[in-house]
Amino acid sequence: MNPVAPSPLPLPAEFADLTALNTLGLRATANRVLRLHSPSELASLALQLAQFAGQPWCVLGGGSNVVLPLHYAGTVVQPLFMGITQLPCESGLRIQAFAGESWHGFVAHCMAQGWWGLENLALIPGTVGAAPIQNIGAYGLEVAQRIESVTVWDCDAQALRTVPAAECAFAYRDSAFKRGTLGTVIVVAVTFLLPLPQDWMPVLGYAELNKMLASQSNPQTTLPAQAIFDAVVAIRRAKLPDPAVIGNAGSFFKNPVVTAAQAAALRVLHPHLPHYAQAGGECKLAAAWLIDQCGFKSCAPKSGEGCIGVHPLQALVIVNTAGRGNATAAQVRAVADEIQAAVLARFGVNLEVEPVFLTAA
Ligand code: EPU
Repeated sequence: MNPVAPSPLPLPAEFADLTALNTLGLRATANRVLRLHSPSELASLALQLAQFAGQPWCVLGGGSNVVLPLHYAGTVVQPLFMGITQLPCESGLRIQAFAGESWHGFVAHCMAQGWWGLENLALIPGTVGAAPIQNIGAYGLEVAQRIESVTVWDCDAQALRTVPAAECAFAYRDSAFKRGTLGTVIVVAVTFLLPLPQDWMPVLGYAELNKMLASQSNPQTTLPAQAIFDAVVAIRRAKLPDPAVIGNAGSFFKNPVVTAAQAAALRVLHPHLPHYAQAGGECKLAAAWLIDQCGFKSCAPKSGEGCIGVHPLQALVIVNTAGRGNATAAQVRAVADEIQAAVLARFGVNLEVEPVFLTAA
């Protein structure tokens, strides 16, 4: 695929350009963007938003898990709180990171400090503040397994609030933040509880990661966390498109979870269907395989209207090859609808979209 990048179409000058604020690189604007550099600014946020009463507002982190509308007729709030601190704790390493930190930058910082436990989550785009919202996960680890609490600004109570992990309702690519069940809150910081170095154990449940590590490591030596970090970075670089080069929002669909009976019936017809048994007897299927089998990888996008399509190396990733500012949410929606319809027709399986479609308001 050729990531052609023609110059973006001109935008109305009175609006704030969000093209650089979404990793899909969609053409998008909002009435305004409000950048918050310190949590102390949250106290006056309500007052600032009151100037635009009747208009909606939303929070945008790294924009790596959203599909933005052509125009959002409201205010985009961007928390840019920075800082990474080790807090006192005897049973583990308690690390607090503020919402505006880049996720991968934070993981790399932890590695450099000898704070292990997040290495499987290397190179995931986005910010620390967005990580708990969709409970980012990869290579056998979900961030929920390392979160102790999330500090939020409670917009109704007008106060900071600490939400313990047990109250975050973390599930596969889901949380109470994503569902909105904690009220209107803005993530300020995330507190992680990482193992002490002597208690650290590698997370090696993912076949592809194991295979790469087995080909590298000497069985006589203990596997260091850095080797896992390096392997995850190498695997991701090899098969996932870099949003700085080709616009994308990572996995566009969740891997569907079906009943054991439905999985068994599908496997009779499709013996190569990748499947992962879940606690409780259900079965998770590989959405990428289902999409791939429907032939979407063979009709990779080229330009113009057809600039949105699936990535040639990972069918779960929808890419924008038209270049930044030259594709819209409507085009993404059309391709996502087409994929969902094809998978449903062929396999009887519903694919759930992973990123959040922000409504135009
Ligand atoms: N496969 C295909 N065709 C493809 C790609 C994959 O048939 O085009 C098959 C693979 O051969 C494999 C299976 O599908 O048997 C699963 O593929 P893969 O290991 O690449 O993982 P995935 O289930 O597609 C999930 C996460 C990724 C995460 C990887 C690694 C979801 C929705 N996606 O992808 O997360 O990096 O596992 O743990 O759970 C993200 O959320 O943005 C993301 C990239």
